Amino acid sequence: MAPYTAYSLICLGFLLLVFCFDVKAETSEDCKGREKLCSRGMAGEGFCYNEDESDCCGGRVFAKTAGSGCCVNVWNMTARVYSHERQFCCNGTVYSSGSLDCCADVVFNTSTQVCCQGKIQKFTKGAMCCGTELKMEGQVCCSPQHQPRYAKVYNMPKENFICCGNGYINRTEYYCDFATYQPMKICSNNSVHKCCGNEAYDPRKATCCNKKVFHGKSEHWETGDGYVINHICCGGVPQSVNEEICCELRVHNRTATSQCCGTESIDTDEKVCCNGRPFKKHSKYKTKCCSDRGYYEDGEHLCCGEHEARRSVLYNVSTSDNTAKCCNTALFNSTESICCGGEVMKKMKKEDDSCCQVHTRYQTYNSKYYLCEKQGLVAKASHRQQCGRGRTIDTRGQLCCRGMIHPKPSSAIKCCGTKTFNSSNPQLLCQFGSLVKRPPRQLQQGQPNYRQRCGRHMFDTRRELCCRGVKYAKKSDAMKCCGTRLYNSSDPELTCQFGIRLQQMPKIGERQS
Ligand SMILES: *[C@@H]1O[C@H](CO)[C@@H](O)[C@H](O)[C@H]1NC(C)=O
Ligand SMILES: *[C@@H]1O[C@H](CO)[C@@H](O)[C@H](O)[C@H]1NC(C)=O
Ligand SMILES: *[C@@H]1O[C@H](CO)[C@@H](O)[C@H](O)[C@H]1NC(C)=O
Ligand SMILES: *[C@@H]1O[C@H](CO)[C@@H](O)[C@H](O)[C@H]1NC(C)=O
Ligand SMILES: *[C@@H]1O[C@H](CO)[C@@H](O)[C@H](O)[C@H]1NC(C)=O
Ligand SMILES: *[C@@H]1O[C@H](CO)[C@@H](O)[C@H](O)[C@H]1NC(C)=O
Ligand SMILES: *[C@@H]1O[C@H](CO)[C@@H](O)[C@H](O)[C@H]1NC(C)=O
Ligand SMILES: *[C@@H]1O[C@H](CO)[C@@H](O)[C@H](O)[C@H]1NC(C)=O
Ligand SMILES: *[C@@H]1O[C@H](CO)[C@@H](O)[C@H](O)[C@H]1NC(C)=O
Ligand SMILES: *[C@@H]1O[C@H](CO)[C@@H](O)[C@H](O)[C@H]1NC(C)=O
Repeated sequence: MAPYTAYSLICLGFLLLVFCFDVKAETSEDCKGREKLCSRGMAGEGFCYNEDESDCCGGRVFAKTAGSGCCVNVWNMTARVYSHERQFCCNGTVYSSGSLDCCADVVFNTSTQVCCQGKIQKFTKGAMCCGTELKMEGQVCCSPQHQPRYAKVYNMPKENFICCGNGYINRTEYYCDFATYQPMKICSNNSVHKCCGNEAYDPRKATCCNKKVFHGKSEHWETGDGYVINHICCGGVPQSVNEEICCELRVHNRTATSQCCGTESIDTDEKVCCNGRPFKKHSKYKTKCCSDRGYYEDGEHLCCGEHEARRSVLYNVSTSDNTAKCCNTALFNSTESICCGGEVMKKMKKEDDSCCQVHTRYQTYNSKYYLCEKQGLVAKASHRQQCGRGRTIDTRGQLCCRGMIHPKPSSAIKCCGTKTFNSSNPQLLCQFGSLVKRPPRQLQQGQPNYRQRCGRHMFDTRRELCCRGVKYAKKSDAMKCCGTRLYNSSDPELTCQFGIRLQQMPKIGERQS
């Protein structure tokens, strides 16, 4: 029987693909247009038929009617046409319908039996199928979603019990996690259940605060791609993230402009928060913070040490007093003192305007007459000049080029960037801080220098124009540069703006006149 069955199954496949053996030995290539092959055997041969008019059933063609089907018997490789209206096909055999029907290849009597998910059950009044079983009145059927075949019947509906998959569970003892359940008391940190003290809870349905579960307040709610935080714990109180704000463990109502300020919640339209202390905003002046104190930029306040926000100190100053200055966090009178290395120092002389560090001590001085050098204050001679921090040069023999000290053997030596060059050398030219070699052709002495650089080329200023590195022949003085291009500046309809040559629109009045 076994090899026969195998053969039958293969041939059924062939029947569906409409390939089979036929005495006329036509193949699918012989069938044209609306024709199909009705095959008889395994060789992919049969005969052609018109699929608009007929259907093929086991190597035989029958007229196409809406109510007919083909009943294939896979056990002995036969097929029969039958009428849906009066007959049915069950396990390859055609039966007359009436009180009979087919239940998973087995015939049953519909007046005495029911078919429950492929299993025949005795017909009972008031009963319903529950999976493959029958559910009587007063019983509970727990059916897993999308898997009705595995539904199970439970005898008594019980209070506080719920279906979980096909299980029926006491919800105070178990958690239902989609179709599987687990005891409540066992706390495990799996993907869904988290521990709250020793209790397990579902963060989507409850919030854990201080090792206590708050039911009905969910930390999260499910979205398409994950969870969104909805509730969090705020000082032992579950708090709605959308409606409330948690400020250092205190819950406050939330508005669009709410912000925590210490334990308080402030309206940012009305107040600023200065290191945890709220301060009312001014309608006219800008409100700022100085450490934990708020102030208005009204010219009456000075905040010293703003860079160290937590230690800055706020001072009241009078608007007329512009001698008040900050020295770190201290306020000082700049007519009497100077801020030296972060410390206020009384001026040694009234005219002192700078301070100089000599070893570890500071000294105030007048920069008009003194220079601060490593060894201390040096009387300023006309030939002394500061070059960088704490360094001076003698301008009689030295040059300071952007903070770099160079010897100056002659006055012809000049700075070019941080370097020096011999300005008497006609071959050398300093452009934008770097040395350029002049081409020798233009070196005829005594002649005005008409040759100038235009981008990477030279041009003659008498005959040519250079527009941002592009050379043009100079035809008339009216032609001017506009960006890299030329335009006729005498033409009243043309203007040059931002290097773009514009066609000027004639004014309406001009057009009418
Ligand atoms: C095949 O089986 C069906 C049902 O068992 C039977 O009615 C039919 O006569 C059989 N055909 C052959 C050719 O054995
Ligand atoms: C279907 O028919 C075959 C052959 O007659 C038989 O062996 C098989 O048990 C039948 N299947 C069922 C489910 O009755
Ligand atoms: C179906 O069952 C009813 C009631 O037992 C009986 O009268 C009837 O003959 C049965 N039908 C068939 C086709 O066996
Ligand atoms: C459900 O579980 C709770 C807690 O264990 C228990 O008190 C209750 O009796 C159970 N309910 C039923 C119907 O068994
Ligand atoms: C579960 O996770 C929490 C928080 O991560 C942790 O404090 C607790 O110890 C974990 N419990 C178990 C049983 O793993
Ligand atoms: C917070 O909102 C609730 C509900 O809208 C309201 O009853 C309560 O008075 C509000 N509390 C404060 C402090 O505004
Ligand atoms: C600064 O002025 C405010 C009023 O603008 C006043 O309340 C405060 O006491 C004053 N502070 C000092 C140190 O004078
Ligand atoms: C600063 O010092 C000058 C001169 O001693 C004095 O006139 C002025 O009032 C002082 N300013 C303040 C704010 O004390
Ligand atoms: C500078 O150049 C001139 C002319 O080439 C030359 O006479 C003079 O010696 C140069 N000076 C130095 C310091 O190189
Ligand atoms: C420039 O424009 C003026 C006025 O339109 C015209 O007379 C002159 O010929 C133009 N010059 C050139 C070089 O096109």
